[in-house]
Amino acid sequence: MRNIVLPHPPEYKSIRRWHRLLAVGLTCVSLTSGCVASSRAGDASPSSIKILVTYHSLAGNTERMAEAVVAGAQSVARSHVVLKRVGQVTADDLFSADAVVVGSPVYWSNMSGEVKTFFDNWQFKFGVFPEFKMRNKVGAAFATGGQVSSGKEVTMLTILAAMLGNQMIVVSDGGAFGASATTEADSPGIDDQELANARALGRRVAEVTKLVRAGSSH
Ligand SMILES: Cc1cc2nc3c(=O)[nH]c(=O)nc-3n(C[C@H](O)[C@H](O)[C@H](O)COP(=O)(O)O)c2cc1C
Repeated sequence: MRNIVLPHPPEYKSIRRWHRLLAVGLTCVSLTSGCVASSRAGDASPSSIKILVTYHSLAGNTERMAEAVVAGAQSVARSHVVLKRVGQVTADDLFSADAVVVGSPVYWSNMSGEVKTFFDNWQFKFGVFPEFKMRNKVGAAFATGGQVSSGKEVTMLTILAAMLGNQMIVVSDGGAFGASATTEADSPGIDDQELANARALGRRVAEVTKLVRAGSSH
């Protein structure tokens, strides 16, 4: 029988979120409209890279991974990182980003409906086709799932497939297809190794994005 985790009470969730945000040292513009964080070396400038980290999360697990991805990306000089829930992403967030990292909880062995709707909206709301407006942006995926082997890799691969269909350059770290965490049963929540994998993914995305940007400016 699958153990489905219900959302935490709102008060507890918001206290946890504040602790986590303070811990990674993010500068939040607003918790509902998203957070913006820059590496110590500076803000968004012509020489900086912009990375959008976006996710869906009901019970907070995927959100924790997202924050670790942000911390990893932020550890690379001149990276400007925006953290938003998928439903909050605007056309400007998407098109001004050099890289997009997408995270989803596993729902029935695949990405959640919210994340799939986000990708569908690349066309319905943002009109990426036929110009392939996301072409040559860097992409990566992360996921959390209740069980050890019940859809995390499929979830990351379907996220990467949507990116490949948009002619993006996909990368991984933390695992073969991205960073993932098991959150229920014998492995409740997110452990230190899973957080380290998410940070590694964020860092690699930032490093590869700098290479792609440097190569495309010649
Ligand atoms: C509707 C639903 C379907 C789920 N299906 C799966 C599944 O197929 N495989 C799995 O490993 N976990 C499944 N889970 C568990 C979630 O993926 C897991 O608890 C995840 O960490 C939740 O992420 P969140 O805390 O960011 O909301 C499901 C949860 C829900 C609510």
